[in-house]
Amino acid sequence: MSIYLDNAATSYPKPESVYLAVMHAMREVGASPGRGGHRRSLDAGRIMFQAREAAAALFSVPDSSRIIFTHSATEALNMALRGTLAAGDHVVTSSMEHNSLARPLHLLEKQGVDLTIVQASTEGIIDPEDFRRAVTPRTRMVAIGHVSNVCGAIQPIDRISAIAREAGALFLLDAAQSAGSVPIDCVASAIDLLAVPGHKGLYGPQGTGLLYVSPRVALMPLLTGGTGTNSTSEDQPDSFPDGFEAGTHNLPGIAGLKAGMEFVMEQGVAAIGDHERNLVTYAVEMLRGLPRVTLHCPEDPAMRGAVLSFTIAGKDSAAVAFELDHRFDIAVRAGLHCAPRAHRTLGTFPGGTVRMSPGWFTTREEIAMFVDAVVQCL
Ligand SMILES: Cc1ncc(COP(=O)(O)O)c(C=O)c1O
Repeated sequence: MSIYLDNAATSYPKPESVYLAVMHAMREVGASPGRGGHRRSLDAGRIMFQAREAAAALFSVPDSSRIIFTHSATEALNMALRGTLAAGDHVVTSSMEHNSLARPLHLLEKQGVDLTIVQASTEGIIDPEDFRRAVTPRTRMVAIGHVSNVCGAIQPIDRISAIAREAGALFLLDAAQSAGSVPIDCVASAIDLLAVPGHKGLYGPQGTGLLYVSPRVALMPLLTGGTGTNSTSEDQPDSFPDGFEAGTHNLPGIAGLKAGMEFVMEQGVAAIGDHERNLVTYAVEMLRGLPRVTLHCPEDPAMRGAVLSFTIAGKDSAAVAFELDHRFDIAVRAGLHCAPRAHRTLGTFPGGTVRMSPGWFTTREEIAMFVDAVVQCL
């Protein structure tokens, strides 16, 4: 029996409706949205609109035209950062960030943006008071991840976004590990920019993602080109969403993402999160007593998302993941998980950790088999 515990990288399997929606978009629709007045193009446009509406409902966004589809969370983060920041701006971020946020910020720093990196605790949790101390009148943005992709720590985003708002700064949230399993309300949580992958907790296909942009943000497009609108002008339209989605859309992907978001809303984000957290807690309880095993997660179960990292003293993490795959057909991930500074924070640099990440389709029985396999790797 094959067990997939790498949902933090990309979720698998997808709901049946997602596979069907991708096929329907390719086979039955065929055309691209906004690129013709014929029936197929209009059908494609309707799918896009419904997908935007689904995203707006999921994240409590009042106006779905402020949802921009991208190819990944990485693209959404780059769009948010490069589309708002300029030399001389100050940005506050944390030591727990994924390279998708940390690397574009590092590049912007080389181009004149002033960066402050707030250190998280050894459990990977950030303290809002450290952000209060870090913001200045020049702070243009506070940019953090919601849930750590290394240790699963859920960050206190409401308190941090309130500090950003008070300071007159924008609040950018990387929801790569929370969208679909932790409820997100963009208005209530004062989120100005929300970067989301479509292919993780929203159960869409790879090659999908989105960025929500609040009306407080003046955004420059990442890409310019054909939008199917305002074609007489040489200038890129500044209207939402078309001005920020130049080029032919990934319609099959977005159709699948729409089905994935509908599935998530049918199950309920809180129910999905509870299921995944229960599985993580179950794994924590069983792994905790094992000799030479160290868990790298917050002590408080309420602070944990659907990610659990561990190390085995005297064993290389990559070797453990290889053994789990080859001897037991269990897919986990090993290494630094694209977040080197997070490992320095947790004390697991440079060896990294073994990371297991359950999804909605993971069962308790699979977690028990995973723990059994870990025992045999000791
Ligand atoms: C915290 C975090 N941010 C960003 C990303 C990037 O997401 P994507 O693969 O959709 O670009 C990931 C993916 O692993 C992630 O875990």
